[in-house]
Amino acid sequence: MTFKRRKVKTERLTIRPIKPSDYPIWFDAFVNGLPMQSKWDEGPVAPEKCTKSCFIKIIKNHKHMEKTDDCYIYGIFENKTGAMVGHLDFDIFIRSTHQFSNFGYRIYNRHWGLGYGQEAGRAGLKIGFTHLKLNRLEAAINLDNVKSIRLVKAIGMKKEGIKKRYWFENGKWTDHLIYVANPEDIGLKPRKPF
Ligand SMILES: CC(C)(COP(=O)(O)OP(=O)(O)OC[C@H]1O[C@@H](n2cnc3c(N)ncnc32)[C@H](O)[C@@H]1OP(=O)(O)O)[C@@H](O)C(=O)NCCC(=O)NCCS
Repeated sequence: MTFKRRKVKTERLTIRPIKPSDYPIWFDAFVNGLPMQSKWDEGPVAPEKCTKSCFIKIIKNHKHMEKTDDCYIYGIFENKTGAMVGHLDFDIFIRSTHQFSNFGYRIYNRHWGLGYGQEAGRAGLKIGFTHLKLNRLEAAINLDNVKSIRLVKAIGMKKEGIKKRYWFENGKWTDHLIYVANPEDIGLKPRKPF
């Protein structure tokens, strides 16, 4: 079974799949970002890496991963300006008797500190449990990524522990803090496997 990504509106944000007509705002989001603000941030991307054909390939890839129930990626857009301010992703780990995905989030650095991470994060939990029928969303966070830890706590995710040598990044296996949410944590009923 697969699920269609559906648009969700919050007070200040719209969370939805990216589409071809988003190219100018996607280009602006990646090319005109601020320099890297921390080691967990990304700086601006070179314009030559942000071509329209590259963007169309990304959209096709998102659609393919949706179709195969591998991963669901959403753009986060500011209602007031239409700017693309970040993205959410749900990387499906196991369906079956687990209904379990990784929950990833990024707000692009020009838009930090406005509460968008929390607003999108809360909406993301609902999307995961309702639209994508998941029962467990797991955020895996580098031990010193303080901003991300504050975010998951603020949206009600619960600390579960540390997964050792969990993620291969920057040439090595790194430990990650695990924060988890189940539907009950945000007042929803547990999901049954389908
Ligand atoms: C982690 C990350 C998503 C946070 O995004 P953000 O949009 O800056 O987060 P918020 O604005 O919601 O929260 C940041 C602060 O602004 C505050 N804030 C400001 N205005 C706010 C408002 N209107 N409503 C709520 N909070 C507000 C929050 O309370 C929070 O304060 P705190 O850090 O003291 O708790 C962002 O830094 C990021 O993308 N980092 C790089 C990628 C990354 O690390 N991803 C996670 C990998 S595990």
